[in-house]
Amino acid sequence: MERDVLSVDDLSSEEVTRLLDLSQKVKAHPGDYGEALKGRSVALIFEKPSTRTRVSFELAVAATGGHAVTLSASELQLGRGETIEDTGRVLSRYVDAIVLRTFEQERLEVLARAASVPVINALSDFEHPCQCLADLLTVREVKGELAGRTLTFLGDGNNVAHSLLLGGAKTGMNIRVATPRGFEPIPLIVQRATEIASETRGSVLTTHDAREACAGADVLYTDVWASMGQESEASERALVFQAYQLDAEKVSLGRPDVTVLHCLPAHRGHEITAEVIDGPHSAVWDQAENRLHTQKALLLWLLGAA
Ligand code: CP
Ligand code: NVA
Repeated sequence: MERDVLSVDDLSSEEVTRLLDLSQKVKAHPGDYGEALKGRSVALIFEKPSTRTRVSFELAVAATGGHAVTLSASELQLGRGETIEDTGRVLSRYVDAIVLRTFEQERLEVLARAASVPVINALSDFEHPCQCLADLLTVREVKGELAGRTLTFLGDGNNVAHSLLLGGAKTGMNIRVATPRGFEPIPLIVQRATEIASETRGSVLTTHDAREACAGADVLYTDVWASMGQESEASERALVFQAYQLDAEKVSLGRPDVTVLHCLPAHRGHEITAEVIDGPHSAVWDQAENRLHTQKALLLWLLGAA
């Protein structure tokens, strides 16, 4: 059976660690993998906009000798009513893996059931596992190891927060998520992350107190207040989320060597101030670069090429 990565929870703790090890190898010696995906092809389907995910996946495939076909849903027959199942069945006859960015998680699950090749979640409303792998690699590079490190996520309990809760728990980190009331991560994810953390000696904390959550943190992380699909709520959310802005005061509450992450795209003056994202603690450009290395590793692993 082919493996799918629709959630961080589709990977065991050991597999996350092995993928990060492979990402570091691929990053250090890219030339060793230049032909690893020779003759293989990957379909990238986008039902939402993307800069980083699209470019990093296309280049990850090209740099390993494979061929990527990028498709926007509006150009596919999918946009004219062909089912996701039929799309999956047909693409499976042409390509070796399918990467999908979409809305409902269920769409990925339906695609994965119909497809006979690995399916990768390139962001859904529920999770962003590829982002999480790059985030974990970045923390590992800066802090040396993940276990025992404290990462605080500020803002909306969204797809990125969900994947960090699971990925942080799998790697023995202490994950804190501070959100306004009504914007908490979904209880099922918090419960699952807590269960995983009890096995890895990590921990999970959800709170409404942003300052408490930042105290002593090794990493401070934020994301947009209105995700793709929530644009109409942006101004209302901006009022509710103000106390969760990642600003210089919150940075001063973290450890002196605190690292600031943001999955991007960023809105300076909203979820993060310009002085913080462009300041000395920020590792967001390394984080964005790491999408390339972790996705190479993910494809190599899923396609049995490393
Ligand atoms: N972080 C991220 O997934 O960026 P894009 O939306 O540009 O792909
Ligand atoms: N939470 C954001 C992440 C963008 C990469 C969104 O879904 O729009």
